Amino acid sequence: MIEVQNLTKTFNGKAVLKDISFKVKEGEIFGYLGPNGAGKTTTMRIILGLLNPTSGNAFVLGQNLGENEKLRNKVGVLLENDGVYDKLSAYENLHYYAQLYGLSDSVERKRRIGELLEFVGLSDRRNDKVGEFSKGMRRKLALARAIAHEPEVLFLDEPSSGLDPEALDNGEGAGASTLGGDGSYNIP
Ligand SMILES: Nc1ncnc2c1ncn2[C@@H]1O[C@H](COP(=O)(O)OP(=O)(O)O)[C@@H](O)[C@H]1O
Ligand SMILES: [Mg+2]
Repeated sequence: MIEVQNLTKTFNGKAVLKDISFKVKEGEIFGYLGPNGAGKTTTMRIILGLLNPTSGNAFVLGQNLGENEKLRNKVGVLLENDGVYDKLSAYENLHYYAQLYGLSDSVERKRRIGELLEFVGLSDRRNDKVGEFSKGMRRKLALARAIAHEPEVLFLDEPSSGLDPEALDNGEGAGASTLGGDGSYNIP
């Protein structure tokens, strides 16, 4: 599902990644751990095709993500910068992304947005502007955004950042409870 082969990355002559290799199989929840500055985000950016490695290769579903539009639709991403818009409400944010992801059927889109808001516990705040949200609420909305198109592969950078203990217990941070054994999402 994900394969990283002998990645190295050097910034200004300083090696950040040195010969990193790993594989993630379908259905697996892979935790990539390390202290601040260890190179986790750098690795993810390379896998996502947002950054070129100094050497090595990274494949998602057997291909390079870079410019591959079709493959990109199978991938969900939550980066440190969560990509939700302050001036839009929670509902409007998801509506915007759902349209972007090609959910063109308005009835189905509405149903999906309702389901996502319910899943991350933001149904009662759906019409509030995200600018008024707490950090954890933003993160939850960003998670909903990342899985809106039911991606096959989900990348989460610092997923637990800003979440309360209850949300962590529910696995919202790791997205763990949403992943079935076959790697499919199981949103109630
Ligand atoms: N664009 C960049 N230019 C120069 N140095 C960078 C850049 N991006 C990351 N780094 C450096 O690479 C190291 C790893 O960063 P990062 O991958 O963000 O770590 P982590 O996500 O594990 O906290 C840090 O020392 C950071 O300063
Ligand atoms: Mg990081």
